[in-house]
Amino acid sequence: MTVSMAIHSYRGGTGKSTTAANLAAVLAAMGLKVATVDLDLTSPGLHMIYGVTANLLKHTLNDYLYGKCKLGNAVLDITRYLGLSRGRLYFLGSSMKPEEIAKLLREGYDENLFRKITEELEKLYSVDLVIFDTHPGLTEDTLLSVISSDLSLLVTRMDKQDITGTYITAQVLRRFKKVSYAVLNMVPPKFASIPELASEVSRLVGAPVIAVIPFYEDVLEHRSHGVFVLKHPRHPFTTQMVKLAERIVSILRG
Ligand SMILES: Nc1ncnc2c1ncn2[C@@H]1O[C@H](COP(=O)(O)OP(=O)(O)O)[C@@H](O)[C@H]1O
Ligand SMILES: [Mg+2]
Repeated sequence: MTVSMAIHSYRGGTGKSTTAANLAAVLAAMGLKVATVDLDLTSPGLHMIYGVTANLLKHTLNDYLYGKCKLGNAVLDITRYLGLSRGRLYFLGSSMKPEEIAKLLREGYDENLFRKITEELEKLYSVDLVIFDTHPGLTEDTLLSVISSDLSLLVTRMDKQDITGTYITAQVLRRFKKVSYAVLNMVPPKFASIPELASEVSRLVGAPVIAVIPFYEDVLEHRSHGVFVLKHPRHPFTTQMVKLAERIVSILRG
């Protein structure tokens, strides 16, 4: 059965797209079939990390949401493109065309389609996991995409605004009986080694912290030019992503 997981955050720039792209690559390298969907429809970014240019994206999620194409036409198999030799990695990108983004903001779309995306990806490719990279905040459209997923990863920094917002998000998701986990990202190195950090932040955000990822200058300097873990397999950030992937797999296996 296919499981869907939203990667969400209360505030922007917490590392959602970075986590989505790198985690998906690690999970594929472990042999899983993974699909990543850019649901940050008003500020898409996942395609840049994957190095997928506009001419490769013949159709996008926007075309599917407006019934202009079948889902399969908007899905790219980027397994070989990224040099992965195991598993499968699919990508469903959203439009970078200003007029199509404006149309979405003006007209909205049918949110039931999010659930259908997972169903279609299961039918077409028998994927194990669908990862939705979302838009930050608690606006209705984003929230609906998170609620449509089986579980969510809430990416948060240690900033008080992030922590408070993540607590609110986790409480809202709980009202919808949704399971959420927190990923503490960009942790200042001097805090990252505190043994009680994960349990303390779990208490503050009201969701279990399943990863504590330090701030790495190398990741920032990489500037989303490709999937970091594939370029730097021995970097500590990669080790963190592998640990997170293993944790996700154990959650999926119940
Ligand atoms: N652990 C980390 N250490 C250093 N920089 C990071 C880390 N995680 C993400 N970044 C950087 O932070 C910026 C924002 O990340 P991004 O994934 O685009 O956030 P979001 O999708 O939540 O807006 C990017 O430049 C990314 O490379
Ligand atoms: Mg993003």
